[in-house]
Amino acid sequence: MDTTRLSGKHVLITGAAQGMGAAVGKHYAAQGAKVCLGDINVDGVAQVAEEIRSAGGEATHVRLDVTDQQDARDAVAHTVEAFGSINVLLNNAGINKPLFFADITRENYERINDVNAWGKLNVMQAVVAQMVAQGRQDHPYKIINVGSILSRDAFDDVIVYSMSQHAVLGLIKGSAKALIEHNITVNGYAPGVVRTEMWEQLDRDLVEIGKFSTPGESMDSIAQNMILMQRYSYPEDIVGTASFLASPESDYMTGQLLMIDGGMVLH
Ligand SMILES: NC(=O)c1ccc[n+]([C@@H]2O[C@H](COP(=O)([O-])OP(=O)(O)OC[C@H]3O[C@@H](n4cnc5c(N)ncnc54)[C@H](O)[C@@H]3O)[C@@H](O)[C@H]2O)c1
Repeated sequence: MDTTRLSGKHVLITGAAQGMGAAVGKHYAAQGAKVCLGDINVDGVAQVAEEIRSAGGEATHVRLDVTDQQDARDAVAHTVEAFGSINVLLNNAGINKPLFFADITRENYERINDVNAWGKLNVMQAVVAQMVAQGRQDHPYKIINVGSILSRDAFDDVIVYSMSQHAVLGLIKGSAKALIEHNITVNGYAPGVVRTEMWEQLDRDLVEIGKFSTPGESMDSIAQNMILMQRYSYPEDIVGTASFLASPESDYMTGQLLMIDGGMVLH
Protein backbone atom coordinates (compact mmCIF):
# COMPACT_ATOMS: atom_id res chain seq x y z
CA MET A 1 0.00 0.00 0.00
CA ASP A 2 1.20 3.52 -0.81
CA THR A 3 1.20 5.14 2.64
CA THR A 4 1.55 8.64 1.16
CA ARG A 5 -1.14 8.48 -1.52
CA LEU A 6 -3.51 10.62 0.57
CA SER A 7 -1.00 12.67 2.52
CA GLY A 8 -2.15 16.26 2.87
CA LYS A 9 -5.80 15.17 2.76
CA HIS A 10 -7.87 16.33 5.73
CA VAL A 11 -11.12 14.40 5.55
CA LEU A 12 -14.47 14.54 7.31
CA ILE A 13 -16.31 11.19 7.04
CA THR A 14 -19.96 10.91 8.06
CA GLY A 15 -21.50 7.68 9.34
CA ALA A 16 -18.07 6.35 10.27
CA ALA A 17 -18.88 4.26 13.36
CA GLN A 18 -19.26 1.01 11.42
CA GLY A 19 -19.63 -0.52 7.97
CA MET A 20 -18.16 1.19 4.94
CA GLY A 21 -17.59 4.56 6.65
CA ALA A 22 -15.32 2.94 9.25
CA ALA A 23 -13.53 0.81 6.64
CA VAL A 24 -12.86 3.76 4.35
CA GLY A 25 -11.68 5.85 7.32
CA LYS A 26 -9.10 3.20 8.20
CA HIS A 27 -8.05 2.84 4.56
CA TYR A 28 -7.67 6.61 4.12
CA ALA A 29 -5.62 6.93 7.31
CA ALA A 30 -3.37 4.04 6.28
CA GLN A 31 -2.60 6.03 3.12
CA GLY A 32 -1.62 9.16 5.02
CA ALA A 33 -4.91 11.08 5.29
CA LYS A 34 -5.97 12.75 8.53
CA VAL A 35 -9.55 11.72 9.22
CA CYS A 36 -12.33 13.15 11.37
CA LEU A 37 -14.97 10.49 11.95
CA GLY A 38 -18.53 11.73 12.56
CA ASP A 39 -21.57 9.69 13.59
CA ILE A 40 -24.64 9.75 15.85
CA ASN A 41 -22.98 6.72 17.45
CA VAL A 42 -20.25 8.65 19.25
CA ASP A 43 -18.87 5.63 21.12
CA GLY A 44 -18.54 3.83 17.80
CA VAL A 45 -16.53 6.59 16.11
CA ALA A 46 -14.39 7.05 19.23
CA GLN A 47 -13.47 3.38 19.00
CA VAL A 48 -12.70 3.49 15.26
CA ALA A 49 -10.55 6.61 15.76
CA GLU A 50 -8.67 4.83 18.54
CA GLU A 51 -8.05 1.82 16.28
CA ILE A 52 -6.63 4.14 13.60
CA ARG A 53 -4.33 5.88 16.08
CA SER A 54 -3.18 2.51 17.47
CA ALA A 55 -2.21 1.53 13.93
CA GLY A 56 -0.13 4.72 13.60
CA GLY A 57 -2.68 6.84 11.72
CA GLU A 58 -4.11 10.25 12.54
CA ALA A 59 -7.78 10.43 13.52
CA THR A 60 -10.23 12.34 15.62
CA HIS A 61 -13.98 11.90 16.09
CA VAL A 62 -17.07 14.00 16.63
CA ARG A 63 -20.73 13.42 17.43
CA LEU A 64 -22.61 14.31 14.25
CA ASP A 65 -26.23 13.98 13.24
CA VAL A 66 -26.08 14.78 9.52
CA THR A 67 -29.63 16.15 9.55
CA ASP A 68 -28.73 18.90 12.03
CA GLN A 69 -27.25 22.16 10.72
CA GLN A 70 -25.45 23.11 13.93
CA ASP A 71 -23.99 19.60 14.21
CA ALA A 72 -22.65 19.92 10.66
CA ARG A 73 -21.02 23.27 11.40
CA ASP A 74 -19.57 21.90 14.65
CA ALA A 75 -18.13 18.84 12.87
CA VAL A 76 -16.41 21.08 10.32
CA ALA A 77 -15.05 23.31 13.10
CA HIS A 78 -13.77 20.23 14.96
CA THR A 79 -12.01 18.97 11.82
CA VAL A 80 -10.37 22.33 11.18
CA GLU A 81 -9.34 22.65 14.82
CA ALA A 82 -7.70 19.22 14.69
CA PHE A 83 -6.01 19.42 11.28
CA GLY A 84 -5.88 23.14 10.35
CA SER A 85 -8.13 22.79 7.29
CA ILE A 86 -10.53 20.47 5.48
CA ASN A 87 -10.13 19.47 1.83
CA VAL A 88 -12.18 16.27 1.44
CA LEU A 89 -15.71 15.34 2.56
CA LEU A 90 -16.88 11.73 2.42
CA ASN A 91 -20.65 11.98 2.78
CA ASN A 92 -21.39 8.38 3.73
CA ALA A 93 -24.12 8.30 6.42
CA GLY A 94 -27.31 6.62 5.26
CA ILE A 95 -30.28 4.55 6.43
CA ASN A 96 -32.85 2.19 4.93
CA LYS A 97 -36.16 0.61 5.96
CA PRO A 98 -37.99 -1.49 3.37
CA LEU A 99 -41.74 -1.26 2.90
CA PHE A 100 -43.95 -2.28 0.01
CA PHE A 101 -45.68 0.50 -1.95
CA ALA A 102 -49.05 0.50 -0.16
CA ASP A 103 -47.39 0.38 3.28
CA ILE A 104 -45.12 3.41 2.83
CA THR A 105 -45.80 6.08 5.44
CA ARG A 106 -44.96 9.75 5.50
CA GLU A 107 -42.72 9.04 8.50
CA ASN A 108 -40.77 6.40 6.52
CA TYR A 109 -40.45 8.81 3.59
CA GLU A 110 -39.35 11.76 5.70
CA ARG A 111 -36.87 9.88 7.87
CA ILE A 112 -35.04 8.19 4.99
CA ASN A 113 -34.91 11.31 2.83
CA ASP A 114 -33.92 13.45 5.79
CA VAL A 115 -30.77 11.40 6.42
CA ASN A 116 -29.87 10.23 2.91
CA ALA A 117 -30.69 13.34 0.86
CA TRP A 118 -31.00 16.40 3.12
CA GLY A 119 -28.23 15.08 5.41
CA LYS A 120 -25.76 15.04 2.51
CA LEU A 121 -26.73 18.52 1.30
CA ASN A 122 -26.64 19.83 4.86
CA VAL A 123 -23.10 18.59 5.58
CA MET A 124 -21.96 19.75 2.14
CA GLN A 125 -23.16 23.29 2.84
CA ALA A 126 -21.15 23.47 6.06
CA VAL A 127 -18.04 21.98 4.43
CA VAL A 128 -18.28 24.13 1.30
CA ALA A 129 -18.54 27.31 3.40
CA GLN A 130 -15.26 26.34 5.05
CA MET A 131 -13.57 25.40 1.75
CA VAL A 132 -14.56 28.72 0.19
CA ALA A 133 -13.24 30.58 3.24
CA GLN A 134 -9.93 28.70 2.94
CA GLY A 135 -9.51 29.92 -0.65
CA ARG A 136 -8.29 28.10 -3.74
CA GLN A 137 -5.57 25.49 -3.45
CA ASP A 138 -3.45 23.60 -6.01
CA HIS A 139 -5.61 20.47 -6.10
CA PRO A 140 -9.39 20.69 -6.16
CA TYR A 141 -11.32 20.28 -2.95
CA LYS A 142 -13.22 17.01 -3.11
CA ILE A 143 -16.71 16.06 -2.08
CA ILE A 144 -17.59 12.37 -2.36
CA ASN A 145 -21.24 11.45 -1.92
CA VAL A 146 -22.07 7.80 -1.36
CA GLY A 147 -24.96 6.74 -3.58
CA SER A 148 -26.18 3.26 -4.43
CA ILE A 149 -27.20 1.02 -7.31
CA LEU A 150 -30.59 2.49 -6.36
CA SER A 151 -29.38 5.91 -7.51
CA ARG A 152 -29.91 4.48 -11.01
CA ASP A 153 -32.38 1.62 -10.53
CA ALA A 154 -35.18 0.82 -8.05
CA PHE A 155 -36.62 -2.21 -6.27
CA ASP A 156 -40.30 -2.51 -5.34
CA ASP A 157 -39.60 -3.06 -1.62
CA VAL A 158 -37.31 -0.04 -1.12
CA ILE A 159 -38.98 2.65 -3.22
CA VAL A 160 -38.34 5.44 -0.72
CA TYR A 161 -34.66 4.51 -0.35
CA SER A 162 -34.42 4.45 -4.16
CA MET A 163 -35.98 7.93 -4.27
CA SER A 164 -33.46 9.20 -1.72
CA GLN A 165 -30.55 7.68 -3.67
CA HIS A 166 -31.76 9.21 -6.94
CA ALA A 167 -31.69 12.51 -5.02
CA VAL A 168 -28.01 11.85 -4.22
CA LEU A 169 -27.30 11.56 -7.95
CA GLY A 170 -29.12 14.85 -8.54
CA LEU A 171 -27.11 16.43 -5.75
CA ILE A 172 -23.84 15.22 -7.31
CA LYS A 173 -24.73 16.58 -10.75
CA GLY A 174 -26.21 19.90 -9.62
CA SER A 175 -23.59 20.76 -7.04
CA ALA A 176 -20.75 19.79 -9.42
CA LYS A 177 -22.04 22.58 -11.65
CA ALA A 178 -22.57 24.98 -8.75
CA LEU A 179 -19.21 24.50 -7.03
CA ILE A 180 -16.64 24.23 -9.82
CA GLU A 181 -16.12 28.00 -9.61
CA HIS A 182 -14.58 27.37 -6.17
CA ASN A 183 -12.40 24.51 -7.50
CA ILE A 184 -14.56 21.99 -5.63
CA THR A 185 -15.33 18.71 -7.40
CA VAL A 186 -18.34 16.59 -6.51
CA ASN A 187 -18.36 12.89 -7.32
CA GLY A 188 -19.65 9.72 -5.72
CA TYR A 189 -19.55 5.98 -5.69
CA ALA A 190 -22.43 3.55 -5.71
CA PRO A 191 -22.14 0.21 -3.91
CA GLY A 192 -24.45 -2.69 -4.72
CA VAL A 193 -24.93 -5.29 -1.99
CA VAL A 194 -22.34 -4.85 0.76
CA ARG A 195 -22.39 -7.12 3.80
CA THR A 196 -22.50 -4.52 6.60
CA GLU A 197 -24.78 -3.99 9.60
CA MET A 198 -27.13 -2.14 7.21
CA TRP A 199 -27.61 -5.26 5.06
CA GLU A 200 -27.88 -7.55 8.09
CA GLN A 201 -30.76 -5.36 9.30
CA LEU A 202 -32.24 -5.10 5.81
CA ASP A 203 -32.13 -8.88 5.52
CA ARG A 204 -34.11 -9.19 8.78
CA ASP A 205 -36.60 -6.51 7.65
CA LEU A 206 -37.12 -8.22 4.27
CA VAL A 207 -38.02 -11.46 6.05
CA GLU A 208 -40.38 -9.51 8.32
CA ILE A 209 -42.30 -7.94 5.41
CA GLY A 210 -42.44 -11.28 3.60
CA LYS A 211 -40.12 -10.55 0.66
CA PHE A 212 -37.85 -13.48 1.59
CA SER A 213 -38.56 -16.40 3.87
CA THR A 214 -35.23 -17.23 5.51
CA PRO A 215 -32.40 -15.13 6.98
CA GLY A 216 -29.50 -14.63 4.55
CA GLU A 217 -31.66 -15.53 1.55
CA SER A 218 -31.87 -11.95 0.27
CA MET A 219 -28.12 -11.53 -0.20
CA ASP A 220 -27.61 -14.99 -1.72
CA SER A 221 -30.58 -14.63 -4.03
CA ILE A 222 -29.48 -11.23 -5.33
CA ALA A 223 -25.91 -12.46 -5.76
CA GLN A 224 -27.04 -15.44 -7.83
CA ASN A 225 -29.68 -13.71 -9.92
CA MET A 226 -28.61 -10.09 -10.29
CA ILE A 227 -24.83 -9.72 -9.91
CA LEU A 228 -22.62 -10.62 -12.85
CA MET A 229 -19.79 -11.59 -10.48
CA GLN A 230 -22.23 -13.88 -8.61
CA ARG A 231 -21.23 -12.68 -5.15
CA TYR A 232 -22.13 -9.83 -2.84
CA SER A 233 -19.40 -7.53 -1.55
CA TYR A 234 -17.67 -6.45 1.65
CA PRO A 235 -16.38 -2.98 2.62
CA GLU A 236 -12.91 -4.07 1.42
CA ASP A 237 -14.34 -4.17 -2.12
CA ILE A 238 -15.29 -0.51 -1.83
CA VAL A 239 -12.32 1.21 -0.20
CA GLY A 240 -10.09 1.33 -3.31
CA THR A 241 -12.55 3.40 -5.35
CA ALA A 242 -13.21 5.61 -2.32
CA SER A 243 -9.46 6.28 -2.11
CA PHE A 244 -9.19 7.01 -5.82
CA LEU A 245 -11.89 9.66 -5.52
CA ALA A 246 -10.06 11.34 -2.62
CA SER A 247 -6.67 11.20 -4.34
CA PRO A 248 -5.08 13.52 -6.92
CA GLU A 249 -5.62 10.75 -9.51
CA SER A 250 -9.26 11.84 -9.81
CA ASP A 251 -8.56 15.60 -10.04
CA TYR A 252 -9.99 15.87 -13.57
CA MET A 253 -13.39 14.37 -12.67
CA THR A 254 -16.55 16.00 -11.46
CA GLY A 255 -20.27 15.21 -11.49
CA GLN A 256 -19.71 11.44 -11.71
CA LEU A 257 -21.15 8.49 -9.81
CA LEU A 258 -19.00 5.34 -10.10
CA MET A 259 -20.79 1.99 -9.74
CA ILE A 260 -19.01 -0.59 -7.52
CA ASP A 261 -21.55 -3.39 -7.70
CA GLY A 262 -19.93 -6.46 -9.27
CA GLY A 263 -21.96 -5.78 -12.39
CA MET A 264 -25.57 -5.00 -11.44
CA VAL A 265 -26.38 -1.67 -13.05
CA LEU A 266 -24.59 -1.28 -16.36
CA HIS A 267 -24.74 2.47 -16.97
N1 LIG B 1 -24.66 -1.88 2.62
C1 LIG B 1 -25.04 -1.79 1.34
O1 LIG B 1 -25.28 -2.80 0.68
C2 LIG B 1 -25.12 -0.44 0.67
C3 LIG B 1 -25.37 -0.43 -0.70
C4 LIG B 1 -25.44 0.78 -1.37
C5 LIG B 1 -25.26 1.95 -0.67
N2 LIG B 1 -25.05 1.93 0.68
C6 LIG B 1 -24.85 3.20 1.35
O2 LIG B 1 -23.54 3.23 1.88
C7 LIG B 1 -23.51 4.02 3.08
C8 LIG B 1 -22.90 3.22 4.21
O3 LIG B 1 -23.66 2.04 4.37
P1 LIG B 1 -23.27 0.87 5.40
O4 LIG B 1 -23.78 -0.36 4.79
O5 LIG B 1 -21.87 0.98 5.79
O6 LIG B 1 -24.25 1.27 6.60
P2 LIG B 1 -24.18 1.00 8.18
O7 LIG B 1 -25.59 0.98 8.65
O8 LIG B 1 -23.32 -0.17 8.49
O9 LIG B 1 -23.47 2.32 8.72
C9 LIG B 1 -24.10 3.57 8.58
C10 LIG B 1 -23.61 4.50 9.66
O10 LIG B 1 -24.32 5.74 9.51
C11 LIG B 1 -24.66 6.20 10.82
N3 LIG B 1 -25.81 7.11 10.75
C12 LIG B 1 -27.11 6.81 10.57
N4 LIG B 1 -27.86 7.92 10.64
C13 LIG B 1 -27.01 8.95 10.86
C14 LIG B 1 -27.18 10.35 11.04
N5 LIG B 1 -28.40 10.92 11.03
N6 LIG B 1 -26.08 11.11 11.24
C15 LIG B 1 -24.85 10.54 11.28
N7 LIG B 1 -24.62 9.23 11.16
C16 LIG B 1 -25.70 8.44 10.95
C17 LIG B 1 -24.96 4.94 11.62
O11 LIG B 1 -24.86 5.19 13.01
C18 LIG B 1 -23.87 4.00 11.09
O12 LIG B 1 -22.68 4.09 11.85
C19 LIG B 1 -24.95 4.44 3.32
O13 LIG B 1 -25.16 5.72 2.80
C20 LIG B 1 -25.76 3.43 2.53
O14 LIG B 1 -27.01 3.96 2.12
C21 LIG B 1 -24.98 0.75 1.36
